[in-house]
Amino acid sequence: MQKLSELYRGKAKTVFLSDDPDLLILEFRNDTSAFDGEKIEQLDRKGEVNNKFNHYIMQKLESAGIKTQVQALLSDTESAVKKLDMIPVECVVRNFAAGSLCKRLGVEEGIELVPPTFEFFLKNDALHDPMINESHIVGFKWATQAQIDQMRALTLQVNAILAPLFAEGGMLLVDFKLEFGVDKNGDIILGDEFSPDGCRLWDSETRRKLDKDRFRQGLGSVVESYIEIASRIGLDI
Ligand code: TMP
Ligand code: ASP
Repeated sequence: MQKLSELYRGKAKTVFLSDDPDLLILEFRNDTSAFDGEKIEQLDRKGEVNNKFNHYIMQKLESAGIKTQVQALLSDTESAVKKLDMIPVECVVRNFAAGSLCKRLGVEEGIELVPPTFEFFLKNDALHDPMINESHIVGFKWATQAQIDQMRALTLQVNAILAPLFAEGGMLLVDFKLEFGVDKNGDIILGDEFSPDGCRLWDSETRRKLDKDRFRQGLGSVVESYIEIASRIGLDI
């Protein structure tokens, strides 16, 4: 498979065209961003770790019946993915209160949420990804009501698959963010990535933070911690 010109450069990944018109190449870089690009650092091996982690999780989701964008691992830092028309909306499920939810509602970090909460955010760094509701998504034609219903159902299904997987590794899946796209058949497919950059994971016993909050909060050992998460769920990187 041949890598062609650069299509889009995000904060942590670059997307390239390939010689297959249906496939793109995702390159996971070492760049690590927080606060909508305000804090950016290069962390050694982060690209490789997230590429392999994402591939492992997407394979687990595929085996559980979720359609994902991922096609194949191409190299340490690159994956082949199906071309999608991405929906500019982020889907967030929370099993425990943390992050922006605590700030917004003034609630204490760590309160368990049963059933899990579900929220939509608009993918827009300049506006700091504002929270939006279904009527905004339909009104501005970012997605149809049927697509919204599917995105919510799929995100909750992913939570039901991954929370037990991380629990087996002694971790709490606190929250995570997913993005979806539409393929050439019009089907909703899970896109972007699932990695410790886009979720919160705490040690179940001590509640030690293992995810990108280590970077956001300057706690150190960021990539080491991502490797520990992987190893706890059976992936040695
Ligand atoms: P939040 O607490 O900042 O709203 O984030 C909730 C979860 O979603 C957390 O695991 C981080 C993830 N997330 C991203 O990865 N990127 C984003 O742009 C947003 C808004 C959230
Ligand atoms: N992903 C966003 C950023 O890169 C938000 C965050 O993770 O804090 O800035």
